[in-house]
Amino acid sequence: LTELKGAFVRRALKSPEGAVIRTAGWIYSKNVLGKLIFIRLRDSTGIVQIAVRADRVGEEVFEQLKRIQQESSLSATGVVKRDPRAPGGAEIQATSINVLGASMEAFPIRLGVGKRFLLDNRHLSIRGRRTTSVLKIRALVSELFRRWLRGHGYIEIHNPSLITAACEGGATLFKVDYFGKRAYLTQSGQLYNEAAITSLERVFCFQPSFRAEVSRTMRHLTEFWQLEIEEAFAEHDDMMRLEEEMIAYVVREALDKKGRELTKMNPSLRPLEPPFRRITYDDALGALKGGGVDVEWGADLGADEEKRLCELVGSPVFVTHYPAKAKAFYHKPDPSRPDVVLCHDLLIWPYGEIVGGGQRIDDYSLLVEKIVESGLDPKDYQWYIDLRRYGSVPHSGFGLGLERFLSYLCALPHIREAVLFPRTPARIYP
Ligand code: 4AD
Ligand code: MG
Repeated sequence: LTELKGAFVRRALKSPEGAVIRTAGWIYSKNVLGKLIFIRLRDSTGIVQIAVRADRVGEEVFEQLKRIQQESSLSATGVVKRDPRAPGGAEIQATSINVLGASMEAFPIRLGVGKRFLLDNRHLSIRGRRTTSVLKIRALVSELFRRWLRGHGYIEIHNPSLITAACEGGATLFKVDYFGKRAYLTQSGQLYNEAAITSLERVFCFQPSFRAEVSRTMRHLTEFWQLEIEEAFAEHDDMMRLEEEMIAYVVREALDKKGRELTKMNPSLRPLEPPFRRITYDDALGALKGGGVDVEWGADLGADEEKRLCELVGSPVFVTHYPAKAKAFYHKPDPSRPDVVLCHDLLIWPYGEIVGGGQRIDDYSLLVEKIVESGLDPKDYQWYIDLRRYGSVPHSGFGLGLERFLSYLCALPHIREAVLFPRTPARIYP
């Protein structure tokens, strides 16, 4: 008897003919044919067919299985039999079945129930095969980003989530009552990353970011995971090169390790070849105008414009040198043209921006000036300004939204599918 612990089903299917094994999982479907019941049992690794006969498992269990509901859990011991008609090419002929947890009623997640119902019951709907795939790919991709960064000398740091000063503008801050003082949930680890490079030079953080953003779009969450890199002595262009190398690596490795699951969800997914296209904001506006979309100089690009731009110039594409007034206070102005900043967004069709980054202001006076210009209070940013007082260095960084990246990789129709329990303006349950 081979006792299969975890990842049961795939191993059951790979066991040789005649092997006696025990497997466990949840009932995916059931078919009663007189004195024979076929149960399809699922776990995270697949689906295996269990053939159950009354004369083998006993009348009592057989009767129980006749009535048992979908998504009940059980363990089954039996003999592996190759059978081309069974899913995965093998079935288990049960010698004993042990019901672990019989469902108390019919499983509410059925074909044809609405999107809203699925989200209200996300704790149940995550049992679907597709969610299992997305969650596995999420874990893999998280590991791949870390692996690439570690391999290139970046050190992972852990930043606070409770903070006092906005990184990306006050409009999207979640307020927290911190023992009577006003605090916020972090929008980005960037400002702390900038402090950490004076200790470690090359750092990254990978943690939740919060945005009180009421945008109800296919690409916005109020809580999302952001991978943020910051590097001392690095310039704007260095970051774009880093991003394209890292992203190309992750896509390649993900295809290598989860190619079957990925291409099932996203048949047109191909490896990406650096260098990615680069286009300035000014040229992007020109391309959009040619495509019939007018954007006033100075405005940030919205989701529709970004998507259209990808169609017009190709995807992925770096859009660089945005107007200073379209971006946050910390961006370094282009010395040759101070009305634009040394920054970039990486756009991928159809989701648009998946990365935002660039070079930071390293000059003390300029930073104070920009903070004031943005309507912020320098007192709130004293520690951040201090970094320019003691051994300031040129430095750059960026942030990649994990769920947007997964949306692209898995061709998800909505970003909430990239999260186990999504948070949007309309949803904080379950
Ligand atoms: O462009 P953003 O706001 O940039 C920053 O937060 C910088 N401080 C990052 C840095 O330089 N360290 O956000 C970065 C990325 C976006 O490109 C997008 O992928 C993702 O975070 N993002 C969101 N993802 C889901 N829902 C939202 N509401 C998001 N807002 C940003
Ligand atoms: Mg951005």
